[in-house]
Amino acid sequence: MRKIITLPNPILRQKSEAIDLQKTDFELIKKLSQEMLKTMRQAHGIGLAAPQIGELLRLVVVEQLPGMDSPLVLINPKILHYSWRKDVAEEGCLSIPGEYGLVKRSVSIKCEFINLNNQKIKIKVSGLLARVIQHEVDHLNGILFIDKKIKSE
Ligand code: CO
Repeated sequence: MRKIITLPNPILRQKSEAIDLQKTDFELIKKLSQEMLKTMRQAHGIGLAAPQIGELLRLVVVEQLPGMDSPLVLINPKILHYSWRKDVAEEGCLSIPGEYGLVKRSVSIKCEFINLNNQKIKIKVSGLLARVIQHEVDHLNGILFIDKKIKSE
């Protein structure tokens, strides 16, 4: 179990670095992603980015959502395409306890990443999974959902 960093910790505003797969021990990445999944579940989240536990690395985990056969571990995720069609849904964040808000995001995305078998994967996803990946990739760039929240009138 790792401690989840919360606002106003400035780490959440930093940009995370790509994982160098030539230099990095894959076992370490596996171990870190397992710790992230555990930490996320303990906190009842459905996604977690490495900077949220203080590791400024481009690593994301996503819980097994309806329609998926396993949780996802995304190393160096890159969103290649955002659908023109967007929708609005409520989001929260384990790093911003107690705060929720409506965020407009693309309904579907194309995403490329490295998996734990060191394979390059390309997926097209929509709905909740697309939303979670967009939220988590934002974390890797120091962006939080509160930056995108639709102002309530
Ligand atoms: Co978050």
